[in-house]
Amino acid sequence: MPDRWQTLLQLARAAHADHPDLRAFCDFPDDLSRLPANQHRIPATDLLEAETGLISDDRHSAFRDGFIGCAPLADWRQTYKDTNIGADFLNRFGCYELIGLEGTFHSHQMRGFVVYSPADLHYPWHHHPAEELYLVLAGEAEFCIHGEKPKTLRPGDTTYHASMVPHAMTTHDHPVMAYVLWRGNLMDPPVLTHAEMAP
Ligand SMILES: [Fe+2]
Repeated sequence: MPDRWQTLLQLARAAHADHPDLRAFCDFPDDLSRLPANQHRIPATDLLEAETGLISDDRHSAFRDGFIGCAPLADWRQTYKDTNIGADFLNRFGCYELIGLEGTFHSHQMRGFVVYSPADLHYPWHHHPAEELYLVLAGEAEFCIHGEKPKTLRPGDTTYHASMVPHAMTTHDHPVMAYVLWRGNLMDPPVLTHAEMAP
């Protein structure tokens, strides 16, 4: 049986080679080492496994399916567990790290996560020192960046978040799955943007 993680890593490598925005954002890492699997489920893991709305296209559906295939094996995160973000967000939003400091494939050069949000969920304004690139793999969501007009992104679309610039994401009628890259300061986690700072 093929190793699902190796398959997913190859899909990430192929996506990186395929998409000019990913190529421009950073080189694909050359310092990867496999870490022991640490499986951890959160409520979003169950939701993703039951999800039927992650519509994709020919170019991105294999990468979507790779992330879904590794979902039962992954170390799912609730990044905002100790904040006041609220139970609904914690019970429905999730991510796991494929490449990076705590990814299945360790790297010091970049981080690569998958994020999943079901329909009708608001990911509040937040910011972090890392620069960030989202590539939507399936579904759609409205992305907001401080000082810019909101935009709806679909499979193949990307959005860039500069260091420390607040951004937010909202799903409406559809769920979304996105591949998220970090470069620069990889250490410091995202924090919710305080109400007085939020746009
Ligand atoms: Fe972010």
